[in-house]
Amino acid sequence: MKEIRDNARKLMGKFCHVCPVCNGKACAGEVPGMGGLGSGSSFTGNVQALSEIKFNMRLIHDVTEPDTAITLLGKQLDLPVLAAPIGGVSFNMGGGVSEDQYIRAIVSGCKAKSIIGCTGDGVPEFIHSAGFSAIQEAGGHGIPFIKPWEDEELYRKLELAKETGTDILGMDIDAAGLITLRRMGRPVSPKPLDKLAAIIKKSGLKFILKGIMTPDDAERAIDAGADAIVVSNHGGRVLDHAPGTAVVLPAIAATVKGRISVLVDGGVRSGGDVLKLLALGANAVMIGRPFSIAAVGGLQEGVEKYIDTLQGELQQTMVLTGTRSAAAVDRGILFDSSR
Ligand SMILES: Cc1cc2nc3c(=O)[nH]c(=O)nc-3n(C[C@H](O)[C@H](O)[C@H](O)COP(=O)(O)O)c2cc1C
Repeated sequence: MKEIRDNARKLMGKFCHVCPVCNGKACAGEVPGMGGLGSGSSFTGNVQALSEIKFNMRLIHDVTEPDTAITLLGKQLDLPVLAAPIGGVSFNMGGGVSEDQYIRAIVSGCKAKSIIGCTGDGVPEFIHSAGFSAIQEAGGHGIPFIKPWEDEELYRKLELAKETGTDILGMDIDAAGLITLRRMGRPVSPKPLDKLAAIIKKSGLKFILKGIMTPDDAERAIDAGADAIVVSNHGGRVLDHAPGTAVVLPAIAATVKGRISVLVDGGVRSGGDVLKLLALGANAVMIGRPFSIAAVGGLQEGVEKYIDTLQGELQQTMVLTGTRSAAAVDRGILFDSSR
């Protein structure tokens, strides 16, 4: 991974410093770029919230070969991890590789390791079209995320997304806060419940709503007919001073438990972080920037190596906490200082 990260640092230049820990400090305010919006506090808060959660270390048990596999929306994944949708290589990452090369590396690398890569959307058009092509080439193995555009454009993109062969579609409703879209004269807005329900029904696919940060919005996602939510603040890129996702996850997961699949992202930097979020109630976790660094620095090989690293870390943490299966993680593996 060192070689891959060194190469990414060269290719990403001032767009990403490839810091020892990707925590949003060096890139605060850099949107476009890889940073968080404004003060950067929502990005740094995601990382901080996870770092404050500690494990109970347990060694008197018989778990030596933990099972990291899960089933999510009918798909078997070798790890409870998805590569988060990220687009805009030229204006966010310095353009050292093309949008096509980047997203192929993500989608194919994830497929090769039996997890799922998601693709992003935005302006210019080639962001989503590169993603759609990569998923189509991978035989529909990938999840396209589209932005909450207005009717005609939205329905056109829905149809194109379906042609990739995927049976799952996502929408980042929090894109309403993206200054990159506003600057390009293409802002998007929040969606009322009836409109959202109509979109999900019309898609005819399993639907993931990304950008849920309150139990109330999670209930609305169920009302709208979504199959899954992603507890996410868009990696801190849409609203400054949002809480860390690990802070809001437990209440959201408790509210919707068993009625909808719960994914979460933001600041996940290790297999240990993945396990923490599963213990707090998530079914699976998305990781953003570290996948981007692996893809820019080493293309598909970089992505595969990164997934291997994560899997090793996750297995190790599962053993040290006595966790047998990623599909059933006990909250009791987390240290509770009040006891
Ligand atoms: C440069 C960049 C571009 C992004 N583009 C998209 C996108 O097109 N669609 C989307 O749903 N999320 C997008 N995101 C948000 C990620 O999917 C994800 O929520 C976030 O990166 C998770 O936080 P992490 O990077 O700290 O893991 C983007 C994030 C970054 C950093």
